[in-house]
Amino acid sequence: AEDPWKECMETAVQLALRAGQVIKKALTEEKRVSTKTSVVDLVTETDHFVEELIISALREKFPLHRFIGEESTSAGSKCVLTDSPTWIIDPIDGTCNFVHRFPPVAVSIGFAVNRELEFGVIYHCTNGNMYTGRKGHGAFCNEERLHVTNETGIRNALILTEIGPKRDPATLKLFLGNMEKLLKFQAHGIRVIGSSTLALCHIASGAADAYYQYGLHCWDLAAATVIIREAGGVVIDTTGGPLDLMSCRVVAAGTTELAQSIAQELQTIDYGRDDDN
Ligand code: IPD
Repeated sequence: AEDPWKECMETAVQLALRAGQVIKKALTEEKRVSTKTSVVDLVTETDHFVEELIISALREKFPLHRFIGEESTSAGSKCVLTDSPTWIIDPIDGTCNFVHRFPPVAVSIGFAVNRELEFGVIYHCTNGNMYTGRKGHGAFCNEERLHVTNETGIRNALILTEIGPKRDPATLKLFLGNMEKLLKFQAHGIRVIGSSTLALCHIASGAADAYYQYGLHCWDLAAATVIIREAGGVVIDTTGGPLDLMSCRVVAAGTTELAQSIAQELQTIDYGRDDDN
């Protein structure tokens, strides 16, 4: 049977490319930077412009669909997943990188129906890599099929994480404590690249073995989750239970064993929920 969401996915790829061109051009220009939940939670005019560009194009083509976007949510839109076809969009993932011209900067577009993720598209704006995953049909970077690693233990693993926007002493202590634990187990290394979605793409492509974070959002997770699962990996909650897209936390890995081992070591950092009022 014909894929019912084929046209949607093709539209997502086209829009991610278009958004990527806008972002790439804006990267070299002067930016007006504002802050959101903390002094290190940044947003620029380009974040707003690109989100509007993507959502208005999608709304015109798919008027009955629903939308969750990072900047619309900051502006007060509700962040709830219903059974309706829903687009979950991060116009610029890696805004801090974008502001500093550090290369990992991405556009992320996820799509869910009946609360199930159907496909994900993540475009790396500065190197042109297009990551795609379609439920049941595999994950790709450009034309190349993606596969996770088969590493099962923290020892020997290359692990990625992101810092999250809270910088109060208690949060920092927990954040550093989690890192220290994994390093004590002789993880080969821990990397922080400044973009949750691209870090998660590195797990899908086998460039790293695991990812964990507290303080990310549904728009950082939606597209990447499909891509990792279709590359053979697992995406779970930091408690070891099933992923909750709205819970602001995640562990992803190539194997269940590694994901569970990391989950077991982590101390919770409370970032609330995306669907809190
Ligand atoms: C953020 C970045 C950051 C991560 C945050 C994300 P944004 O996305 O990926 O590295 O620590 O959790 O929300 O704000 O640049 O779209």
